[in-house]
This record gives sequence, C-alpha cells and structure tokens, in this order.
Amino acid sequence: MGENTIISQYGKAHKRLRVAITSAINQPQALRPIALLVQPRITAALESWAQKGKIVALKETKKVTFENIGNLFANIQPGPLLDTLDRLFVGFVNGIRAQRWYFPGTNFYHAIQCRKKLKEIFRVELEKRKWDKLEGVEARNDLMDGLMGIKDEEGNQLKDEEVLDNIVTLVVAGYESTALSSMWAIYFLAKSPKVLQKLREENQALSQEKNGGFITTEEISKLKYTNKVVEETLRMANISSFNFRVAVEDVEYKGYKIPKGWRVLTWIRFIHTDPEHFDDPLSFNPDRWDQQPMRPGTFQAFGGGTRVCPGNSLARMQLAILIHHLSVGYKWELINPDAAIAYLSHPKPVDGAEKQFQFMNS
Ligand code: HEM
Repeated sequence: MGENTIISQYGKAHKRLRVAITSAINQPQALRPIALLVQPRITAALESWAQKGKIVALKETKKVTFENIGNLFANIQPGPLLDTLDRLFVGFVNGIRAQRWYFPGTNFYHAIQCRKKLKEIFRVELEKRKWDKLEGVEARNDLMDGLMGIKDEEGNQLKDEEVLDNIVTLVVAGYESTALSSMWAIYFLAKSPKVLQKLREENQALSQEKNGGFITTEEISKLKYTNKVVEETLRMANISSFNFRVAVEDVEYKGYKIPKGWRVLTWIRFIHTDPEHFDDPLSFNPDRWDQQPMRPGTFQAFGGGTRVCPGNSLARMQLAILIHHLSVGYKWELINPDAAIAYLSHPKPVDGAEKQFQFMNS
C-alpha cells in the first residue's frame, strides 16, 4: 500500500493520518456535501439498469461506485482517464492477497507496477492543483484538496507522498467494499419481500415530501428502518471476512496463551453468524437492530479499536442513499436466486448477482 499509507503507520503517525482522513471523509460536515455529490450518479445508474432490464449487479455497482470515487476523490469525470484508473486499480487489488513473489508475470509484481502508475497519475493532478492555487483557481473541495489542505496540531500539512499513498489506499479500501455492499443490499432485498415493503413505506413517505429529489444526511439519519437494513446488510455480507492483529504483549484468552509478537486473525464472519450473538443468525432481519446496542465486539463489519474503518459513515451513507432511491422507484428479482456463493477474495454470488430490473408500477 506504500510507505506513507495509514495502513502501514503506527502510534502517533497513524493517529495523525487518521485525523486527516476522518475529517476529509467521515465527519458530518464532510458527509453533507458528499451526499449530494454522489446522488446524481446513483439515480442515473438505477435508471440505466431499468432501461437495460437485465443486469449483473456487481458489475454495475462497481461502475457507479468508481465513477463517484473519481469525482469525490480527485474530480475525475467518466472518460479515458477514469477507465485507465479503473484498470490499474483492478490490477492493484488482484495483488493485495497474492503471494509476495516480485518478478514479472506474478500478480504481486503486476500490482506493484499498477500502484506506481496510479501514484503518477494522481501526482500530475496534485502538481496541477499546486499551480492552480498559486494562480488563485478555486479549490475543488474533493478528497485530494481535503488531504492537501489539512494541518496537524503542529500546523504541518501532509507531505505530497502522504497525500498520494493515502489517496490510492482510500480508493482501494472504498471501491470494492462499497460496490459489494451495494450488490448485497440489492441481493438481500430481492430475497426479502416483507423487508422491502417496509422499506418502501418509509422511503416513499420521504420521497413524496421531497418530490423525488435528493436526500440530505439529516434526512438519512431519520430513516430508522433504512439504517437497520444497512446494518443488517453489512452483518450478513461480511465483506471483510477477517482482520489481523499482532499481540503487543503476552495475552491470556479463554485459557489460551497468545505470546507477544504472534499474529491473530479475527474471523469476523464467525462473530456475525454466532447464535450466541444473533438469534437465527442466517436470516436477514433488520428488526434485530432494535435491540441496540449489541454486545460490545459482536458487530465488527468495520473492525474495531484504533483501526476501525475510517470510511464507515461514508460507506453507510452511500448504502442508505442507494436503498432509498432503489426502494422508491424499482422492482427487481434475482435471475438465479440459488446461485452459489464464492468466498474469495470477498463473498459474492458466482453470477455477480444477475437481476431483472423494472420500474415500479405505482
Ligand atoms: C462497506 C464498506 C466497507 C467495509 C465493510 C469496510 C471494512 C473495513 C475493515 C474491517 C477495516 C479494518 C479495521 C480494523 O482493522 O479494525 C477497514 C479499514 C479501513 N477502511 Fe474500510 N470498509 C468499508 C469502506 C471504506 C471506505 C468507503 C473507505 C474510504 C473511502 C475505507 C477506508 C478504510 C481505511 C483507510 C482503513 C484502514 C484504517 C487504519 O488502518 O487505521 N473503508 N475497513
């Protein structure tokens, strides 16, 4: 992920980057404009799916997620540059869980080359912005500007390499995860007509008030049932199936000793499907979230502690927006409801969730 990425930093350096990233993408003041920025593409995508009639959901959610990321992160609009970025990110992501064999022909080698090229593309944009600033060109208010402008407690700005490594990291962290969670929401809702009905009722009421317009973060926070559907989707989808930690001291756990320096893998999918934590854990039941708060540590879709996902509010918000527009305007069904699920690198139906889409006859 690069030397300067949040993922490879610890202690004070990690905290400094987290503050910068969370204020750029995860605080209410950052999310407010983002909510309005992502909606035109989400609603346009839904319309295009209905026109196509039959879609492979994962392919489509990836497309719309990446278009929004381009816009949100570096003001890059659909076109040849965004297509190149997409190709490079796919090459990069394919190497993340590959063997560390660094020679031509391996996934790992290819991923490193892709990352270098990605950084160079973003570097050109970064240099351009420095010139623009000197010439008084108005800031774009996207993530790159946010990261370039942030100052730490001592008044220091992030270095160029920090901005670049973290932009690349954030795209990787936010791209596939957001696309997959969107696909799973559509998948679970297709299989849960009663949940969908309740969702429609809640969201149609808001949509009528807004005359079908875009919704704000304040309105999203009031969509109680929708937010429960978001949590339940994340619990069931287990997009990050596991998590790594290093024991920083000897630890005693349930009679087992974990020696200092050992690596521990938390199997998140197990935590989320353990009947001790969730009744009838394999059923898609948003109402279980009425009993909040869940027992500490039992919901780990975004990890936990100092490394908890700094994009969690952004991810939740994008999912709620998609669900809102989807539930008020569309009907859909799975073409292969019993398609097998593949679990690596992330859980997904093997057909990418093929769906039949229609406008709702309301
Ligand atoms: C549904 C979508 C997402 C899921 C399920 C998810 C899940 C996770 C998980 C499990 C972790 C590891 C936490 C830990 O070690 O305790 C993580 C870390 C991270 N996520 Fe997310 N994430 C999502 C979306 C996003 C988005 C949209 C962004 C940013 C645009 C993002 C940025 C990051 C970053 C930078 C880290 C590393 C944090 C650190 O090392 O301090 N994620 N995410």
